[in-house]
Amino acid sequence: MPLQMTGAPSDPDLIRLPWDLPLEEWPDHHLVALPRGISRHVVRFARLSGRVYAIKEISERYAKREYKLLWDLARLDTPAVEPVAVVTGRTTPDGQPLDSALITRHLQFSLPYRAVLCGTVRPDTLTRLLDALTVLLVRLHLTGFYWGDCSLSNTLFRRDAGAFAAYLVDAETGELHPMISEGQRAHDIDVAHINIYGELLDLEAGGLLHSSIDPLVFAEQIVERYHRLWNELNSDEIIEEVDWHIVEQRIRRLNNLGFDVAEMMVRRKAGTGRLIVRPKVVDAGHHQRRLLRLTGLDAEENQARRLLNDLDSFRVAEGLRHEDEAIVAHRWLAEIFRPVVTAIPAPLRGKLEQAQLFHEVLDHRWYMSEAAGKDVGLKPAVDSYIKNVLVHKPDEKAIIASADGISP
Ligand SMILES: Nc1ncnc2c1ncn2[C@@H]1O[C@H](COP(=O)(O)OP(=O)(O)O)[C@@H](O)[C@H]1O
Ligand SMILES: [Mg+2]
Repeated sequence: MPLQMTGAPSDPDLIRLPWDLPLEEWPDHHLVALPRGISRHVVRFARLSGRVYAIKEISERYAKREYKLLWDLARLDTPAVEPVAVVTGRTTPDGQPLDSALITRHLQFSLPYRAVLCGTVRPDTLTRLLDALTVLLVRLHLTGFYWGDCSLSNTLFRRDAGAFAAYLVDAETGELHPMISEGQRAHDIDVAHINIYGELLDLEAGGLLHSSIDPLVFAEQIVERYHRLWNELNSDEIIEEVDWHIVEQRIRRLNNLGFDVAEMMVRRKAGTGRLIVRPKVVDAGHHQRRLLRLTGLDAEENQARRLLNDLDSFRVAEGLRHEDEAIVAHRWLAEIFRPVVTAIPAPLRGKLEQAQLFHEVLDHRWYMSEAAGKDVGLKPAVDSYIKNVLVHKPDEKAIIASADGISP
């Protein structure tokens, strides 16, 4: 069978990569060294016309399966790496068959957990990673996706204001159903628990865990957090008819957790004046969607929350309480957000994403103002942030991996 590339390859040059060589033997000039998680298959990153792709060598059957699942996840707007193409029919120049390849778009500014946790990990960093992973697992389950191999290694993390946002990277064992069963959910949680426990033990053995972190206790956190979030999103509320405000409070709590309620199911409890209320369709990305609608900025959930808070303070500070929201957003972009982003010298812009940069500048301003006992203003905060913080940060758009390719 001749070499074949199937998918939506955005770059025709992809077909010209040295597919007749095992991925391990590809010449360096095709590759970029970026941090990678631990994997069973060979995974490499290739750069073509300014774009970076992840290439995984894997059997044809699994390559096609994973490609399809990643497409389904993209269609359902779930955070996962984006599939580009599957390459089949690979042979060496002397006719030996080679495994197929799955090409995905490299997720910019993403970090494998070992890169996030480089150095000794503080307990709260680990808690934030597990929080992000919990939200991801719950979101996947809400869409009917059974993961089958949830772990820190199969997840990528992006900074999201003071927290992290998690993306699925390995869908090989996944299954998409119209609705996930209780058994599948329970199994997924079990697998996550075991995998994470193992990964924490590995970190501990490598001297990378803070001495106060007990792998057993932290691995159990994922189970607890998962159930708490799932119940908040899915459980019934039984209320007296007059107490509808309890439902409104529930919706507000869900919004604060970053979810929107698209549909509510209300039933009357037979023979009583009580109602059973359950959020039926919940969508993640409450703040993300509002920010996108108002400003066109595409940010992670917590970044969006932070930016929206700043936008709201701007509205109050400028006396625009009764002005149309879209007009306020336009002014905030032009007068506050853009000037901060453009103040960053071009060579430093690859260090952090725009929304993350803005969030850090706001934090910096807060600390400076605390120290000064008064608000120092945005401009001095930006200048000081660039000079004292940003220049010392690693370039997260493209961190160069160490020789073993596992952590920077
Ligand atoms: N699109 C991508 N963007 C960024 N990193 C990626 C991407 N695809 C794979 N990786 C990195 O490669 C590692 C291994 O990929 P994975 O699909 O888990 O392989 P395996 O099936 O062998 O476990 C991941 O942990 C991740 O760090
Ligand atoms: Mg994997």
